[in-house]
Amino acid sequence: MIKITFLPSEKVIRIPVGTSILQAAVEAGVQVESTCGGKGTCGKCKVQISTETPFENTEIEKRSLSASELATGWVLACQHLCVQDMSVRVHEQQDVYQRKTDFIGKLQIMAAPSVRKFPLTLSKPSVEDQTPDWDRLMAALPVAGIQFNRTVAASLPKVFRLGDFQVTAVLDGNKLLAVEPGDTSGRCFGVAIDVGTTTVVVYLMDLNKGTVVTSGAVTNPQQAFGADVISRITYASRGTDQLRELQGKVVGGLNEIIARLGQEHGIGYEEIYQAAVVGNTTMAHLFLGIDPTYLAPAPFVPVYRQSVEVKANEIGLNILETGTVVILPNVAGYVGSDTVGVMLAAEVDRLPGISLIVDIGTNGEIILSGRDRILTCSTAAGPAFEGAEIKYGMRAAEGAIEGVRLTEDVELDVIAGKKARGICGSGLIDAIAEISKAGVISPTGRFIHEPAQQEKLPTSIRERLRKAERASEFVLVWGKDSASGEDIVLSQKDIREMQLAKGAIIAGIMILVEEMGITPQEIDRVLLAGAFGNYIRKESALGIGLLPALPMEKITTIGNAAGDGAKLALLSIEERGRADFLAKQAEHIELSTNKEFQAQFIKGLDFKRMG
Ligand code: FES
Repeated sequence: MIKITFLPSEKVIRIPVGTSILQAAVEAGVQVESTCGGKGTCGKCKVQISTETPFENTEIEKRSLSASELATGWVLACQHLCVQDMSVRVHEQQDVYQRKTDFIGKLQIMAAPSVRKFPLTLSKPSVEDQTPDWDRLMAALPVAGIQFNRTVAASLPKVFRLGDFQVTAVLDGNKLLAVEPGDTSGRCFGVAIDVGTTTVVVYLMDLNKGTVVTSGAVTNPQQAFGADVISRITYASRGTDQLRELQGKVVGGLNEIIARLGQEHGIGYEEIYQAAVVGNTTMAHLFLGIDPTYLAPAPFVPVYRQSVEVKANEIGLNILETGTVVILPNVAGYVGSDTVGVMLAAEVDRLPGISLIVDIGTNGEIILSGRDRILTCSTAAGPAFEGAEIKYGMRAAEGAIEGVRLTEDVELDVIAGKKARGICGSGLIDAIAEISKAGVISPTGRFIHEPAQQEKLPTSIRERLRKAERASEFVLVWGKDSASGEDIVLSQKDIREMQLAKGAIIAGIMILVEEMGITPQEIDRVLLAGAFGNYIRKESALGIGLLPALPMEKITTIGNAAGDGAKLALLSIEERGRADFLAKQAEHIELSTNKEFQAQFIKGLDFKRMG
């Protein structure tokens, strides 16, 4: 066995010789970005190692890393096999999770959860009254038809006597979840969970008050197996162990957050009685440990679609072991319960007129509601908006360029005001909108080549446009101003990636518009959901043609609406019923077989206002 020390966390792990650094990181619970899932193609898993004796870089590393990186100990974590003790320095992504969670508190509904507490004063047993504990409890409860629960029954002798026969029964509908000593009716908690492909978020909720106590998020630990759902499905389909591994990873990440939040607020896991979960269909399958293999190839068949309820201990979620975990229903293989959560929170069934809702994340889900219909589709927007597949792309974390303006030169907004490390989705949209407006790229996305055209650009902008190895590139940040000392550039390939992603989204929108038999101008409102939606400049989104050309005041951002949907389902049994209704009402439009899609996609590729 050899010893790997991860820095700066100082986590130590012992692993067999020949294990890759990426695998060691997964086992140690250290986050290493790995967009391609370890295939050696994305170059995002760069780490810096230090060893006693010199080591050889692989051919793939030599192609992906610069000469100065190779000289200073940088390797690709997925390619480098450990053969000696070493320390591994990981550039940790301090994601600005606040982005996912800063809409806490806007939710205003009457809390009427399915979990209820009943304080009871029980008569004490005597020689004259030898009623069994279970029967004594049932007689005192105002709810009939409760099934025997072995775990709860086993706790009764102790709990009754600890509370001196003053106890509190915790019920979910007519399921008895727990009996606690004394009157604990003032404390009743649940968790709303949003399992994103990139980030998992937990909202710890007070079920009595209907409020969010606190929230937290971590990168989905399945990231090490690839950034997109297809890589995760591919891994899971290799066998039961791999499926179990992915399930364990995501539940482990959630347990970590729950434990931390509980500790910070003095709330024990056994006081958390229910979880309501949303996620895309693949994430929901993996969360439940259900094989998602047949979601990948056409006809994209999920194993289940309806809302599902399981006991927490069945899937290892660390809340009360007998607590219920409710997963909201899916609509189709690529329109999951997260989209149902968005529909629930946005109240699509109650909005007047025509509403377009776009949730841009690792996938792009689109909802068009009105005329008594709810149409949905999912586009393979690809992880470009999350910064993957983009040379200097990164998630919205410290050091990410999130806003770009071109005046006489380039002006940048960098998250946390630090030196730039890369660029996130909203920054990319801004950058492309701005260079397109300034004439650095043509509407087809090509960098301009003609000297006469370049002459028209301000000098400092012109200097940033340069020839690279195979194509032109635009320097967003000069090395002297970046965190790594390297120039941060936007390459022709990056622009193509964004073009494909935005083309898919606008094509999806236009297909739904056509299916409803309306024109884009008839859309009354556009709601941008998802953390990303909140930071995107409407002007830039319209400028590059990501959305139909509509007046800016019609566009509103609604935050992490999927997470809000999970909160609603947790707080109100009625809202949970509405989620089922919305999932059944929604018509799924499959784009991969839609004859119009290709034409719309090609039309949507240009960077210009649509319509
Ligand atoms: S190159 Fe290592 S994970 Fe992509």
